[in-house]
Amino acid sequence: MNEQELIESGRRRIAWSRAQMPILADIGSRFAGSKPFAGLTIGICLHVEAKTGVWIETLLKGGARIAITGSPGSTQDDTAAALAALPDVRVYSHSGETFDDHIRHCRLVLDAGPDLIADNGGDLHALIYGEDAHGALRKSLRGATEETTTGAFRLYEELQCRDFPTLVINDTQAKRVVENRYGVGSSVVDALMRATNIMLHGKRIVVIGYGYCGAGIAQRLRGMGAHVTVVDREPLSRLEAHLEGFSTDELPNALASAQVVITATGRSGVLDGEMIGLLRSGSIVANAGHFATEIDLAALVEAADAVVRVRDQIERYEMKDGRHVYLMSQGNLVNLTAGDGNPIEIMDLGLALQSLSLARLAQSASGLAKGAQAVPRDIEREVVERALAAWVTGRDTP
Ligand SMILES: NC(=O)c1ccc[n+]([C@@H]2O[C@H](COP(=O)([O-])OP(=O)(O)OC[C@H]3O[C@@H](n4cnc5c(N)ncnc54)[C@H](O)[C@@H]3O)[C@@H](O)[C@H]2O)c1
Repeated sequence: MNEQELIESGRRRIAWSRAQMPILADIGSRFAGSKPFAGLTIGICLHVEAKTGVWIETLLKGGARIAITGSPGSTQDDTAAALAALPDVRVYSHSGETFDDHIRHCRLVLDAGPDLIADNGGDLHALIYGEDAHGALRKSLRGATEETTTGAFRLYEELQCRDFPTLVINDTQAKRVVENRYGVGSSVVDALMRATNIMLHGKRIVVIGYGYCGAGIAQRLRGMGAHVTVVDREPLSRLEAHLEGFSTDELPNALASAQVVITATGRSGVLDGEMIGLLRSGSIVANAGHFATEIDLAALVEAADAVVRVRDQIERYEMKDGRHVYLMSQGNLVNLTAGDGNPIEIMDLGLALQSLSLARLAQSASGLAKGAQAVPRDIEREVVERALAAWVTGRDTP
């Protein structure tokens, strides 16, 4: 595709998503009147795909200038081209980028001098708090949002985020339940089926991590007739899985018979070299967690003597001990790399939380404390009420 064809293709994708996003449409109309972001630049790190495109349009209606990068593996080049063709939008992202490219692009977003940032996974925060070159932003930023569980872990556990307020979208029950459980549950199953074309009925599938995402994935897989075994390091999570009727076991036992293994923990090295050595020959391994580090790729490469791409998004590792295993999307989040990500309506709700959170942060007298914290309850309630109006009654949003 030439540049113009890419732009047209991206516009068609965005238009399809826009038609299913009534909550953002309503917020956009309101922003067009109140202009909460007039004169402000928003620096964004979020998957550069069509739903994000509709959200960018919403922020532009509110008067924002945008600098955006995505995450490795999930960028749609046509969506990126369509967004880059809009006035006041700079896009630093392309498909096939490495993690080093990604960090370089995050630095470019910060070099745009944002007044607000919207982060996903904590990389923008890590650069602001970790690199002197971006230190001035600690004083000048009005505030930030963080989208996901993994970013929240980093903000609360690793980074000392004390200089500006960061609203953690993932700390809302609305996001955890609607997106992580229902959205990720269905989109991971969709991606697995599309990319492999295998039958899930009767398959023995191990889900590692029974949090919001893992529970959703396990439920949807069961709905497709799979035999699901849940592994979690927390006894209470395993007990919950048991009470929900799932099998539960220690990882080594579970791997012995697994035909498909899906990680959803938000932690690194869950499937390490030792566990990779226990994978059944012919098993398919995929990750739904934020970073590609849940499956130890270096250990997998070390244990193999050949890697062959057998299908789009699937590589076959010929192991030195004679087994073979299939890895999906090089360990990147499978629903965004081998599928279209979470369903559009789900992201309508999630990105509405983002929009109203950023508008609150944009007010210089927002009254918010510095540091990472939950989204104000009134914002969550408003978004849930809008979702109820749109989804339950089928009426247009107010
Ligand atoms: N793919 C997507 O579209 C998408 C969307 C939202 C969140 N996420 C990501 O998915 C991951 C999980 O998010 P969540 O909201 O379910 O988190 P969560 O905290 O609710 O659940 C994680 C679960 O993993 C378990 N766990 C942690 N380390 C483990 C280990 N070594 N072995 C076994 N179990 C372990 C924890 O006990 C917990 O029950 C995060 O990285 C999050 O950022 C992905």
